[in-house]
Amino acid sequence: MKLITAVVRPERVQQVKEALFQAGISGLTLSRVSGHGGEQEVVEHYRGTRVMVEFHEKVEFKMAVSEPFVEIAVQAILQGARTGEVGDGKIFVQSLDRVIRIRTGEEDNAALTPVTETQLNPQR
Ligand SMILES: Nc1ncnc2c1ncn2[C@@H]1O[C@H](COP(=O)(O)OP(=O)(O)OP(=O)(O)O)[C@@H](O)[C@H]1O
Ligand SMILES: [Mg+2]
Repeated sequence: MKLITAVVRPERVQQVKEALFQAGISGLTLSRVSGHGGEQEVVEHYRGTRVMVEFHEKVEFKMAVSEPFVEIAVQAILQGARTGEVGDGKIFVQSLDRVIRIRTGEEDNAALTPVTETQLNPQR
């Protein structure tokens, strides 16, 4: 299992969401964040030069996925988020030790598998 974090442009959020859903990834968390990509903007100041660190509005996607979905998720994010201009964002992939679905106590891959309609409504 991996935890994938992707920081993308706010204007690409819809495309990233659609690419992920089409790839079968539907469990995710979205946050609005402020980010800086590492570039330094040097500004002339009356007492000399000063480094300005400007923060931009970005959106962070976080998703826990089982191994077969790692590359699928990365490709979907690239497809949805890339414009080719600087500032397209970054994807971070981290190993994930444990996932627990609170309602059932299921762990790991069982906790990552989406619950189906029949499991939710067994009487139907
Ligand atoms: N090393 C990093 N650690 C954490 N967050 C980062 C890092 N690099 C970038 N980010 C996040 O990603 C956002 C977009 O970064 P950005 O696209 O500018 O990355 P970059 O590596 O400078 O690529 P580019 O050359 O396309 O600008 C940043 O605003 C920040 O939120
Ligand atoms: Mg940058």
